[in-house]
Amino acid sequence: MKYVNQLPVEGKRVFLRVDFNVPLKDGRVEDDTRIRAALPTVKYLLEKEARLVLASHLGRPKGQVKAEYSLKPVARYLGEALGMEVKFSPEAVGPVAEEMKNSLKKGEVLLLENLRFHPGETRDDPHFAAQLGKGIEVYINDAFGTCHRAHASVHALARLIPVKGAGFLIKKEVENLLRVLTHPEHPYLLLVGGAKVSDKLPVLKNLMKHADKILVGGAMAYTFLVALGKPVGDSLVEEEIVEEASSLMKEARALGKTFLLPQDHRCAREISENAQVKIMKEIERGWKGVDIGPETELLYSRHIKNAAMIVWNGPMGIFEIPPFAHGTLAVARAVAESPAFSVVGGGDSAAAVKKAGVQEKISHISTGGGASLEFLSGKTLPGLEVLEEG
Ligand code: 3PG
Repeated sequence: MKYVNQLPVEGKRVFLRVDFNVPLKDGRVEDDTRIRAALPTVKYLLEKEARLVLASHLGRPKGQVKAEYSLKPVARYLGEALGMEVKFSPEAVGPVAEEMKNSLKKGEVLLLENLRFHPGETRDDPHFAAQLGKGIEVYINDAFGTCHRAHASVHALARLIPVKGAGFLIKKEVENLLRVLTHPEHPYLLLVGGAKVSDKLPVLKNLMKHADKILVGGAMAYTFLVALGKPVGDSLVEEEIVEEASSLMKEARALGKTFLLPQDHRCAREISENAQVKIMKEIERGWKGVDIGPETELLYSRHIKNAAMIVWNGPMGIFEIPPFAHGTLAVARAVAESPAFSVVGGGDSAAAVKKAGVQEKISHISTGGGASLEFLSGKTLPGLEVLEEG
C-alpha cells in the first residue's frame, strides 16, 4: 500500500475519503476527534497545492436526503480548524458537485455533502463511484473508521483510480494495531467489555494466542457468569452464546491464561440516572448488573498496571449514566497509568477514555469502532485491501 507522501499529488485534483461521521448537536460538531485525526493528511495535501475534494458519510440516512445528516456543520467546523474557506457542495454527485470540483483552484478545498444520501454508496455501486471519480486524478483514503465497509467511496472508487493510497491516519492506525497483532509484549492483557459477547468473540479468539490475561467486564460478563452457573438476576444475557462463552473460557484456562470475570457488581433495579445502586457479589432477582464492583475495579487495575501490552475494547458498565460509570472510568485511569503499550478500540471505550480525561496517556486510541474490531479480529478490511491492488 502506498501512502499519500509517496504519490504525485502536487496541483492534482485529489479525492480524499475521510471519516467525518461525528456527533452533531444543535447543528454543531460535538466531538471533533475524527476531524482532527484527518487534519495531517488534509494539511499535507493543501501544502502540496492539491485541488482537494473531501468526502464522508454521516450517520445512516439510508440513501435519502435527511437534513439532520447534512455535513454542512462539518464544513463550517473544518473551515475554522484550517483557518481558510472550505467550499461545500450540497450534493455528492451531480451537476453542482461537478462544477464545484472542476472549478477548484490549486490549494482549495471542497467538502461534498453526505455520500450516504445516495443509495449507490452503501451498495458499492460502480456507476455512483464513476460519478464521484469524474475528473479525479489521485484517490486517497484516510477514513480508517469506514475501511470495514465495502462502500463505493472506499472500495469501487479506489478500483477506478490507478493512482491511489492511504493517508497518515490510516498509516498510524495500521502501525499501532499491527503492533499488538504481530509484536506481542508480555504480560499481554486483553480487557473486553460492552453489551454483547457475540460482538467480541472474533477479537477474543484472535488475540487469545497472545494474551496472558483476559479480563472481562460490561454486560457481556453476565453471559460468562451464567455459563459458570452463577446468579445474574435480571442482567442482560445472550442465552444463545452461553455455550460458546463456556468453551472459550475453558479453552483459555486450558491454555494457561488468566481469565477473570467480575467478582462483584454495581447493580440497579432500573437503568436511570436516579436509580439506587447496590453492590452485590451475587446479583439478586429484580436487579441488573450495571457496572463492575469496587473489588473488581481494584483487582483489574492491579493487573492493568502490571501489563506490558494492553488491548482494551468495550466499557465495564453503562458508563453513559454517571452512577454506573465508576468501573469504566477506574479502568481507563489504570490503563493510562500503566507503563504498557496500550491500544484502545474506538467507539465507547474511546469515549470513556475521553470522559476520564486521560487520552494523552494512552498509546493509541483508534478512531475506528467496527473497523478496529475487525482489524484486531484478523479480518481483511475491504477499504485497505483495495489500496494494495495494483
Ligand atoms: C463508524 O462510526 O464506526 C464509522 O463511521 C462507520 O459507520 P457505520 O457503522 O455507519 O458504517
